Amino acid sequence: MTVTWKDEDAANHFVSNREHIPCMEYMFEAALRMVRDIGRPPRRIVDLGCGSGATGGAMHRVWPDAQLVLADYSPPMLKLARENYGGEENVTIVEADLIDPGVMRRLCSEPVDAVVSSAAIHHLPRERQRALYEEVLDVLTPGGAFVNIEHTASACDRTEAIWWRWFYDKMAESRSATGTPTTWEQVRDEIAPRQEVNILTRVDTQVRWLRDMGYEDADCVFKVFEMAVFGGYKPA
Ligand SMILES: C[S@@+](CC[C@H](N)C(=O)[O-])C[C@H]1O[C@@H](n2cnc3c(N)ncnc32)[C@H](O)[C@@H]1O
Repeated sequence: MTVTWKDEDAANHFVSNREHIPCMEYMFEAALRMVRDIGRPPRRIVDLGCGSGATGGAMHRVWPDAQLVLADYSPPMLKLARENYGGEENVTIVEADLIDPGVMRRLCSEPVDAVVSSAAIHHLPRERQRALYEEVLDVLTPGGAFVNIEHTASACDRTEAIWWRWFYDKMAESRSATGTPTTWEQVRDEIAPRQEVNILTRVDTQVRWLRDMGYEDADCVFKVFEMAVFGGYKPA
């Protein structure tokens, strides 16, 4: 099975299972606090690979006066984002492919105070992941923040196995509790093939990239097995 995000089933499957990702609420909190630390209310925020808009939407609830751009390349995801945020003031929803060099300049006619992303950039080839981080640095305002809530690679097979067991357990428990008895093996057989499109990069590698390309205070601020929140700031 090859997932393509432009497929409606893949979009709906992710959105309806997102809540089962362990510790998601803490990852949002960490991302919000990274952005808050720019020391001024952000005036412009971009969410890359926004999906249904959960991450940018969380920022919008805190800073409703900021101009928020939700960007994705998947028509069914963009449809969900429009259903959730299409009527909101200060929210623009745009189709954009993050693989295209120069995409950040096209998305940002003016410098932005925060670029956020969640579980999206790991779908790009590894060299493009790094190049995109450079493009993000280029469009940030001085002092602006980049924060990525990302699915990253485990450092070894053992911790990878523990992570997936936890994820499958959690999903099986939630489904069973809501009236659909489900075993973790059933969840595994459903979820594992959907991971084939991932190009996971270790978080320590990604933080090093950010430091090397000139982000200030680049760090991984939250990590639970393969899910990590990391980012950095454009020097003021
Ligand atoms: C796992 S979903 C995450 C969605 C959303 N950020 C969230 O956390 O709910 C991955 C998202 O990345 C988007 N994506 C993958 N490759 C992309 C690309 N090349 N350009 C733009 N968006 C992309 C998909 O369409 C999808 O919405």
